[in-house]
Amino acid sequence: MQFAWSYKTNYLNAVCNIFHQEGSWAEVVSGFEYDKAIDNGVAGSKIIFNGPNKSEEDLKKAIKNDSLIHIDHLEELYSLIFLAEELKKRPKVAIRVNMDTGIYPMWDRFGFNYENGQAWDALNKIMISKKLDLVGLHCHIGTFMLSPNAYAIAAFKLTDLAINIEKKYSHYIKYIDLGGGFASKNTLKGSFLPGIDTNPSIDEYAEVISSALINSALNPEHLPTLILESGRALIDDAGYLLGSVIANKRLSAGKRATILDFGVNLLFTSFWYEHKITPAQEFTHYSEDTVLYGPLCMNIDVIRENINLPLLNKGDQVVAHCVGAYNVTQWMQFITLRPKIVLIDLDEKVHIIKDNETNQTMVSLEKLPEHLKKIDLK
Ligand SMILES: Cc1ncc(COP(=O)(O)O)c(C=O)c1O
Repeated sequence: MQFAWSYKTNYLNAVCNIFHQEGSWAEVVSGFEYDKAIDNGVAGSKIIFNGPNKSEEDLKKAIKNDSLIHIDHLEELYSLIFLAEELKKRPKVAIRVNMDTGIYPMWDRFGFNYENGQAWDALNKIMISKKLDLVGLHCHIGTFMLSPNAYAIAAFKLTDLAINIEKKYSHYIKYIDLGGGFASKNTLKGSFLPGIDTNPSIDEYAEVISSALINSALNPEHLPTLILESGRALIDDAGYLLGSVIANKRLSAGKRATILDFGVNLLFTSFWYEHKITPAQEFTHYSEDTVLYGPLCMNIDVIRENINLPLLNKGDQVVAHCVGAYNVTQWMQFITLRPKIVLIDLDEKVHIIKDNETNQTMVSLEKLPEHLKKIDLK
């Protein structure tokens, strides 16, 4: 079994390097992420290149480096056959398969569909072309999957394709990549109970996946490697955001509102999670239902629509928990600047791993046309 770290979940170099040191390969979905993995020292052959948007230049680089290219659509398949001829090299490929696993809406926009025969058709095109080396089968059935059984269905459908390839071409698939999607301990908006009490454990996913592979019709002498691209389940719980209270006020209907110095600009995931927020110093015994706003001058900047909190005062600090996944890659530079990020090591030593932005950072890429420089506003 092999992990491939999903770069888009958190591509801070320090974080990627920890995963690579623990043995993870890299799973990337753009030329930018691909180059980042190479710069982080990952061998080309240990980079899985997913996603619908790989340029010809990206594909050439990936072919030359022996990376594992997961084909998303027929245009990409034909480009690869063309590039294989041009570069006189057999690219290592897999196809991404989408399928009905009982989870709706279905994620059928990526890859080739299993039920309608698109996936089988793409596999035949690859095998008959002889230009591409079919090494794997891939799927990523969704994210924050609360039903482990969906992975059993996915594993069954991918093994079915592997067995048919074996039968028809006597060709053995080297790996089955079941993607990511395992839930972290966060609580999704609208959930009745907290995620920490109800979300499946890693053991439950592991049990379902390993049983499905062992019980499949795959020949035990030729079992493919299982690859997982788990993102949020591995990093969400490790990230915290420290902020402070700017002000309190009463809304027109009397509800308490607290304005924090971080909002959806830094905590993108507050659009779909009810993040746990706790005070970072001694607090009152009295608590009250409160709405938590961010600092942006924009109505949608809400961190929690309702949370029962002790009374916080201006300057008090709060901690947002489980924010390690999909925030530092999706946060936006909107209205204000982004802060520093620190890593706390096992000896509790603090390391700055990303500096805060300054006005200079923001303008460094801007260019003012000559004719606009001449205007004197004084
Ligand atoms: C192809 C692929 N693999 C892995 C992941 C990681 O998913 P997760 O963070 O849900 O584990 C994603 C995220 O969307 C993805 O698109």
